[in-house]
Amino acid sequence: MNNPAYKYIPKDVSEIVNRDFAFDFPADLDPVWIPGNRVRSHFFNGLSLTMPYLEPFLMRTISKAKKEITDKELLADMTGFNQQEGNHYKCHIRFNDILKANGYPEFEAHEKRMFESYARLSKRSLRSQLAYTAGFESMTNGFTTWLITKRAALFGGASSHVTSFWIMHMVEETEHKTVAYDAYMAYSGEYWPRVIGVFRGSFHLVGLGIIGMLIALKKDKVLYRPGTILKVLGQLLSFSVNVGPFLIRALLPGFNPRDEKDPQWMKDWVKGYKTLPDGELIPLLDTRNPAMPVPF
Ligand SMILES: [Fe+2]
Ligand SMILES: [Fe+2]
Repeated sequence: MNNPAYKYIPKDVSEIVNRDFAFDFPADLDPVWIPGNRVRSHFFNGLSLTMPYLEPFLMRTISKAKKEITDKELLADMTGFNQQEGNHYKCHIRFNDILKANGYPEFEAHEKRMFESYARLSKRSLRSQLAYTAGFESMTNGFTTWLITKRAALFGGASSHVTSFWIMHMVEETEHKTVAYDAYMAYSGEYWPRVIGVFRGSFHLVGLGIIGMLIALKKDKVLYRPGTILKVLGQLLSFSVNVGPFLIRALLPGFNPRDEKDPQWMKDWVKGYKTLPDGELIPLLDTRNPAMPVPF
């Protein structure tokens, strides 16, 4: 451990659970899985495309940092983090393959660019990679709160498979929200590199997701329509309004992700999951129910 001032603080959850993402996506799934909302569907599709490149990068970074860290509790959290991210990106690959098969083979060239981009990032210093990882995760914290608390407004009437997958991913992001930050603090703890990581981890990833969205809208031959442009701007504004405050708080010197309160629905989901019999598929969310309750 490089930062002698680092001391482990208990996290908000009792454990980081390794869950199976056994979503049985229908082969004929419509890539516009939020009916009547092409832009929002492709916004999330663009982000989904980034995950098989981003999440392995986060895992590589955490694995490298494990060799430098001695705190047993943090090391156990880092193992849990990598298990969860590993499950996430593998499920995103299955989903993304359906998107490509069902109308968007153009995504492949973008995927190649993302692979190269993350290979370049992996060559930077471990401090820089950890700062990116912690920064990205702090943005994700805002993203998870947005998706979970506004789930009905965002995904009302949408595909239950895709909605359930995104929301379960977000529940687990909330569960492991402290790990990358702790790893950065244990390894370095320096303020300014962490601030740079917040910007880089957030804007790089979201930028790549937006490119994916634009590729899909271009394929759909709607990209240059004024209505589409307005909807894209509206979607990005909604993202900024909901996630921005989390980013601003992450920039403050005393920031700790433990200060961000977990949504009650997330806690209910985690509690409900424990009642699921072993080997049983996770029940899907009822996206037609305006309360979209936990599915257990
Ligand atoms: Fe993830
Ligand atoms: Fe994560």
